[in-house]
Amino acid sequence: MVNVLFVCLGNICRSPTAEGVFRHLVEAEGLSDSIIIDSAGTGAWHVGSPPDSRAQQAAKQRGIDLSSQRARKAISADFERFDYVIGMDSQNRSDLSAMCPRGFEQRLHLFLDFAPHVGKIEVPDPYYGGDGGFDRVLDMIEQASQGLLDDIRTKHL
Ligand code: 4NP
Repeated sequence: MVNVLFVCLGNICRSPTAEGVFRHLVEAEGLSDSIIIDSAGTGAWHVGSPPDSRAQQAAKQRGIDLSSQRARKAISADFERFDYVIGMDSQNRSDLSAMCPRGFEQRLHLFLDFAPHVGKIEVPDPYYGGDGGFDRVLDMIEQASQGLLDDIRTKHL
C-alpha cells in the first residue's frame, strides 16, 4: 500500500482538487487497491466543509466529483501514516516541515516537483482570484498527478 496526502492552506480548493484528480487517475490505471489518497489543510478555518463551489464546478467539467470530501487539518501523525505528504506551495511546505516528526522529512514534497516541465514551483492559491484560476490550477494538478504516479510506480509498485 502507498499512502498519499495532499496539503494546501484551507483544504477547500487546491488539495481537494488534487485528491480528486489523482484518485481519478489511479482508478483509470486500475491501482485503487494499491494507493490510498487523502487531503488536508494547514489552516483550520474550513474544517468540516466541502470543497469551494468553484473548485467543485471546475472539477466537474472534467468529470471529477469532489462533493463528498470534507476539510480537515493536517497533523504531525500524518507523517507516520502517509508515504507522501505533498504541499501545494512553499508556505504549505514550510508549515508542514515545522510539524514533521524527526526522521520523516523525506516524505515531504512540493507537488510541482513531480512536473518539472510545467516550469513553476507552486500551485497558486485560486481562492481570492477569478474563476479562470481554478482551471489553471487543474491543468497543473493533472500534470503533476501523472508525474507523481510515475514516481510511485518507480519506487513502490
Ligand atoms: P486552498 O485555498 O488552500 O487551496 O484551499 C484557500 C482556501 C481558503 C483560504 C485560503 C486559501 N482562506 O483563507 O480561508
